[in-house]
Amino acid sequence: MPETTTQCSPLLAQFGEGGLGQTRRPDRWWLAPASVAVGLAAFAAYSTWAALSGENYTFSPYLSPFYSPNFHVPRIHVSPALLVLWAPLGFRLSCYYYRKAYYRALYLSPPACVVSEPVRDYRGEAGILRWLSIVHRWFLYASILVLSVLWLDALRAFDFNGHLGVGLGSVVLLLNAAALSFFTFGCHALRSAVGGNKRCFNCSALGHIRYRSWRAVSYLTSRHPFWAWASLYTVALADLYIRLLSMGVLHDPRVLL
Ligand code: FES
Repeated sequence: MPETTTQCSPLLAQFGEGGLGQTRRPDRWWLAPASVAVGLAAFAAYSTWAALSGENYTFSPYLSPFYSPNFHVPRIHVSPALLVLWAPLGFRLSCYYYRKAYYRALYLSPPACVVSEPVRDYRGEAGILRWLSIVHRWFLYASILVLSVLWLDALRAFDFNGHLGVGLGSVVLLLNAAALSFFTFGCHALRSAVGGNKRCFNCSALGHIRYRSWRAVSYLTSRHPFWAWASLYTVALADLYIRLLSMGVLHDPRVLL
């Protein structure tokens, strides 16, 4: 019997032939795509409801990350979250890691390495999808702008009517901004922008700085899947915490300095 492995290779792809889910893999290969599908569905359901609700998103001095920056456009009566969320949503949907995750978990294309997928005319990321990589870079720039506002929100969360203090909400918003930063600055497109198209760092202007930046981004890129999930849930938990405070369900423990 041929050796089985969880690594993809053209040679082993034949093991997965024969219809959806057919494989000789002895491990519980379905666990990863199933967990991804449940995780993404839970986040999509909660974030859609929270973004459309348009209320209970602030509890002074805290502001939900779903609603920041907090725009109000005169005569446009939509939830403020909808004016902002296109940037982080587009950033995540076009992310290289998330594409792999949802192609496997939602489109079953393929469900896992060496596991058969539904019969379809596979064309890869052709047609309009080939622009995803370019579009992703623009979403990255927009998300960095949103992230800088989230950092301001996190710092404002330590200001209690002019008194410096720390509340549980301050810590929640700070951790969320940090997790989102580790996710954003580990982006593959950023790694390429910082260190790509260079044969020699020493020979280029600011080469030393570029090299150090590339090393730092590369470190985060190697942990990109972890921060993709961690930041997805810190942002949802930050919204939930502020929502429950605003609804009077929770009390925010605080220490004023
Ligand atoms: Fe994941 Fe850019 S590759 S955010």
